[in-house]
Amino acid sequence: MGSMIELFPDTAAIEGGEVQVGGLALSTLATEYGTPLVVYDRATIVGAVRAYRAAAPDAFLVYGVKAFPNTAVLQLLESEGVGADVSTLGELELALRAGLSGDMLVVHGNNKSDEELAAAAGADAAFVVVDALDEVERAAAAGVRRVLVRVTPGVEADTHPSIRTAHEGSKFGLPPDDALEALRTAREAGLDVAGVHVHVGSQLMDARAGLATVDWIADFSLRCRDDLGWTPEVVDLGGGLGIQYVEGKAPQSIGDFVGKLLGRVDAAWVERELHPPRLVLEPGRSLVGRAGVTVYEVGVVKRVAGGTTYVAVDGGMSDNPRPQLYDAEYSGLLASRADEEPSGTYVVAGKHCESGDVMIHDLLLPTPRRGDLLAVPATGAYALSMASNYNVIPKPAAVLVSDGEAELIRRRETIDDVLRFDVP
Ligand code: LLP
Repeated sequence: MGSMIELFPDTAAIEGGEVQVGGLALSTLATEYGTPLVVYDRATIVGAVRAYRAAAPDAFLVYGVKAFPNTAVLQLLESEGVGADVSTLGELELALRAGLSGDMLVVHGNNKSDEELAAAAGADAAFVVVDALDEVERAAAAGVRRVLVRVTPGVEADTHPSIRTAHEGSKFGLPPDDALEALRTAREAGLDVAGVHVHVGSQLMDARAGLATVDWIADFSLRCRDDLGWTPEVVDLGGGLGIQYVEGKAPQSIGDFVGKLLGRVDAAWVERELHPPRLVLEPGRSLVGRAGVTVYEVGVVKRVAGGTTYVAVDGGMSDNPRPQLYDAEYSGLLASRADEEPSGTYVVAGKHCESGDVMIHDLLLPTPRRGDLLAVPATGAYALSMASNYNVIPKPAAVLVSDGEAELIRRRETIDDVLRFDVP
């Protein structure tokens, strides 16, 4: 099981069978904070930021807040010079309450309300990303000043269809002719039009789709020059780099991925004799995904017909719906028996009232017992952020660990919290 630890945060280690993160045994954290618990490793987040920074020293980095909207994480990232990509009024409010200034914010949304546009204008966001033709006029009326226009290059990213975003027919962005029209009208409306935005998709394993997109934008910049007498000064390439969820399926490193994109931008713009743009990058998953580990407690262990043995944990599709939504694969270790030899292959199920509530279809484990802790790595992005209260299950707590210290960054929900909205 040696290489499985690579799926865990940078500071993870196994000592005497105990999985540790940030110098703390996960079992100790589970005792103190309860389960399920999402444990975030500060060093892994900071390491990821620094890898982006090293590969793209001049880029404006903004964190895709949807990956894990959390004040402590936003503040940690801000202390590393990273802003926020927000896509709703709620995400914008979170970023502002966390203390981020407007010039650190990029505001997205394929269906922004007038309230959202006004809030973005009020915050004096660095960029509001125009995503529809009628948004130009509405943004100008709301007092928005600096914009990018999101364009759909028609690139099919090699990822789950639900998280492709730049293909022809996407609900995001504008097809090229309409994007040109939006750029034209935005300039006529007196908006400060800084450039263009694309986001090709999420959980990308390599830069291929990104490279094709960069070439496409360089060509599109020529069209802008010819049609509008204007070229994008800013190119926002979105986010998208994936993380490793299971053994044997590792994406490109941050350095390789970003290095390739930047190299192509330089080459493509020089080739077309254009002034190289300032880049914006919007990583979400690759900043926080591998930093998070979810710790569950094992309850029922049940052998059923056909030889399957279910290991039921005290969470499931309510705290991580990715297996159901994207056929996402996960792996895991028994947090206090990580050095024991596996005795077989188990199916890890949640406690929800449906058969589809399976988190891991085939996991090698030492014979699991009631009370064991199961640590599921690579759960820092899009797990807790997409959690629900299905079956009236309160959402887990989250802690941030560093150098042997843990800090509660999200309180565990109570049943009262969940029932609070029910009107008797
Ligand atoms: N920028 C824009 C405009 C985006 O739409 C997204 C993600 C990002 C940046 C950050 O992308 P990342 O670096 O995290 O790939 N719930 C799905 C992922 C949805 C991604 C949505 N947009 C999942 O669990 O796989």
